[in-house]
Amino acid sequence: MQKETSPDNASDPILDWFRNSSSYINAHRGKVVVISMPGECIDSPHFATHLQDIALMMTLGIRVVLVYGCRPQIDRALDKAGIAPLWSGGRRITQEQDMPHLINAVNHVRSTVENTLAILRPNVVGKSQPLRFVSGNYLIAKPIGIMGGTDYQHTGLIRRIDTEGIRYQLEAGNLVVINHLAPSPVGDIFNLESTVIASELAVALNSDKLIYFLNNPHANDAEGHDLSFIDRDVDATDLSADSDTKRSNSYLALAKESCQRGVHRVHLIDYQKEGALLLELFTLDGSGILISDSYFERLRQASIEDVQGILSLIKPLEEKGILVPRSRELIENNINNYIVIERDGLIIACASFEAFSQSNMAELSCLAVSPDYRGGARGEQLLAQIIENARNKGLNTLFILTTQSAHWFRERGFKPAPLENLPDKRQQSYNPERNSKLFVRTLA
Ligand SMILES: CC(C)(COP(=O)(O)OP(=O)(O)OC[C@H]1O[C@@H](n2cnc3c(N)ncnc32)[C@H](O)[C@@H]1OP(=O)(O)O)[C@@H](O)C(=O)NCCC(=O)NCCS
Repeated sequence: MQKETSPDNASDPILDWFRNSSSYINAHRGKVVVISMPGECIDSPHFATHLQDIALMMTLGIRVVLVYGCRPQIDRALDKAGIAPLWSGGRRITQEQDMPHLINAVNHVRSTVENTLAILRPNVVGKSQPLRFVSGNYLIAKPIGIMGGTDYQHTGLIRRIDTEGIRYQLEAGNLVVINHLAPSPVGDIFNLESTVIASELAVALNSDKLIYFLNNPHANDAEGHDLSFIDRDVDATDLSADSDTKRSNSYLALAKESCQRGVHRVHLIDYQKEGALLLELFTLDGSGILISDSYFERLRQASIEDVQGILSLIKPLEEKGILVPRSRELIENNINNYIVIERDGLIIACASFEAFSQSNMAELSCLAVSPDYRGGARGEQLLAQIIENARNKGLNTLFILTTQSAHWFRERGFKPAPLENLPDKRQQSYNPERNSKLFVRTLA
């Protein structure tokens, strides 16, 4: 029987989420994503639902490699055997006597992961096929050897990755599951760092995303502001996650290095949060911290030297009536309101932000991306930055006035609103001849 539809359906949050997520679903289809899951995540209450979410990602056409670690499980096994773990420079020294306990612990985690995966049924209507996953001899290791006088014994590094073998499995629609034990060509087993394996795999597979699960990650800039997006200012960023600062910062260093080596985006997400993966991949706000490969590109506050670049970018759009004409003087006087994306010294995108504190609102305007660079989510990055600016100022509503881009904003959570909702001050400068429509987005 057909259900009655309500005229209010458009504001149903589930419908809104579903509609808004479609652009993300399309964007991620066919992309390779490497996910790093630490042993702590496997011990956590949401472990099984994170795997279920990976299965869901795969039904949406995302190709996934899952790398898991076993640090707490190994520590417990060594403790039970009365062996004190040895560490040097943030790395475990894997002693000969550790190996049987370590292999047991890893095998135990492996069976937990594989048994949980084995009973998952990806949500395909009318079918009940199990998720297919494979583990294999995709890594060959080599010893770290002796560094600074310390012999790391069975702690190793990656020597070779069978990328062709992994790609073959991904193309067949299989989940590739990899742990951190790998043999050397002569058959010795080495203990590798799962986080490093994930980074190396992401680079070797030219992957679109590398996702690290962490314990409640938080990043702050030098002024202590919370960051949800980090570009090349990664050096000026503090990451707190887990209880171990050194370990947290090693994630940042790995993320930065992975980006420099070609991974487009690295995400740090919270394994304590149910649905963290889906929120990060399929919603504008995400759930974690994004570090992007904007290595030759940089999103930053505009300065007076950028005025010419901004003018050249927006002039053609003003001539087409898409943007309101702005004089050089106006931009110069308000340059602190602008953010830009600079690529190889060129301004390729910009946006402006104005706070109306009395009304608890902010206006996003002058959003423009150079035609040569459209479709690369730069508009979205600028929007995310403006949202962050507004939130940092404690404002709860973002609005825009637009003549031709209503749908771009609607797909990103903006809703039409009557002009009376504009802050009083902004109503006075509204130009009725342009007949721009008002759209608002709540930031709570
Ligand atoms: C709107 C704009 C900023 C988007 O920048 P971008 O970096 O290309 O945006 P993203 O990559 O984040 O998004 C691209 C998607 O938006 C869509 N899009 C672009 N312009 C759009 C518009 N006017 N209306 C609806 N959708 C639009 C693209 O088709 C693409 O969708 P697809 O991937 O499903 O094909 C850019 O197109 C632009 O500069 N337009 C001219 C200026 C403008 O309209 N500014 C807004 C003034 S209020």
